[in-house]
Amino acid sequence: ATGKLADSFARPLHDLRISVTDRCNFRCVYCMPKEVFDKDYQFLPHSNLLSFEEITRLARIFVAHGVHKIRLTGGEPLLRKNIEKLIGMLSAIRTPDGRELDLTLTTNGSLLARKAQCLKDAGLSRVTVSLDALTESTFQQMNDVDFPVADVLDGIEAAHQVGLGPIKINMVVKAGLNDDEIVPMARYFKDSPHILRFIEYMDVGASNGWKLDEVIPSAEIVQRIQAAGMPLIAINPNYTGETAARWRYQDSAGEIGLISSVTQAFCQDCSRARLSTEGKLYTCLFATQGHDLRALLRDPALAASESDAELAISNVVAQIWGARSDRYSQLRSQNTDLQGLTRNKIEMSYIGG
Ligand code: GTP
Ligand code: 5AD
Ligand code: SF4
Ligand code: SF4
Repeated sequence: ATGKLADSFARPLHDLRISVTDRCNFRCVYCMPKEVFDKDYQFLPHSNLLSFEEITRLARIFVAHGVHKIRLTGGEPLLRKNIEKLIGMLSAIRTPDGRELDLTLTTNGSLLARKAQCLKDAGLSRVTVSLDALTESTFQQMNDVDFPVADVLDGIEAAHQVGLGPIKINMVVKAGLNDDEIVPMARYFKDSPHILRFIEYMDVGASNGWKLDEVIPSAEIVQRIQAAGMPLIAINPNYTGETAARWRYQDSAGEIGLISSVTQAFCQDCSRARLSTEGKLYTCLFATQGHDLRALLRDPALAASESDAELAISNVVAQIWGARSDRYSQLRSQNTDLQGLTRNKIEMSYIGG
């Protein structure tokens, strides 16, 4: 039951994105708006979360099926207690041909200055840090908890110092809110070793009130940067199915990425599976239903033998990936009215960005 998988469009399974917590200390307006994620919001109780042992068992099964990159997400992954212990467990996994995993994490950076060294020591390969603005008031308007820019920049610097680079910086662009930060962000990171990525605001989840006219198309982002005197050259992807289209500056080694899930969907080569905080497998960021792997892990009928349970899960994963036909972003760009499809979408903080 192991070996490489291919879905119904012949797409392989390469990446596993694992949400380790549905909680976050930010309330980004495009992800966990305060009005919905308020003090009465019911986050998952601890017993519903996959344990580190359970995550590691599942990760091993996915790696046997061809996954070679694991990304921890959330919510804010660094809020999960003893996350470095999980990283240590995952970093010990080897691919069937004996290689180390690309083990990474997407964080808001708030706890990074404090945790960078122990994450590195535990075996994390690199980090991606979200940062939506350099102007204090704009950044605070976006994170909506008055979190200062300087602390995120300190986190980025600390991660760089301990060798968690090359660091990617994710900036979600929302029209009228932070699009005037596009050029300053480009200029700020241009001659740094970090890779800034501009992300089109997506219609993920059901609570951010997404509207198409709040999306700045990536083509316009490139134009604005060039018009500000920073000419760009398109460069080849690092690998098939990469989320970001890469560009480099004509007059420096600096590189940027554009993640255009709205205007240039990249479902064609999507090789990503997602494991939610409570152990459901989703084959698309926009899926409305997941498959409960935790139920199999905790199934009393399978509890007697660890290898029986793992074989059962391995078969289920193979079957689900084999049947996969998701291409939500591609379909959305063909239909402006996706009302029918957009009901019941899962929140990003739960499914894992
Ligand atoms: P790298 O391999 O380091 O380039 O990571 P990545 O781009 O796969 O991951 P990251 O967590 O940095 O995600 C960047 C942005 O792309 C986020 O807004 C994600 O939600 C979005 N994203 C990642 N994977 C997918 C996907 O499969 N579909 C869509 N529509 N968006 C995705
Ligand atoms: N659209 C685009 N990107 C989003 N992210 C969170 N919500 C959205 C959205 N609605 C980003 C975060 C983080 C990454 C995992 O996903 O900023 O960088
Ligand atoms: Fe938290 Fe990241 Fe969502 Fe912002 S985008 S609310 S930092 S999980
Ligand atoms: Fe993959 Fe779904 Fe994103 Fe398309 S919309 S790239 S299928 S996760």
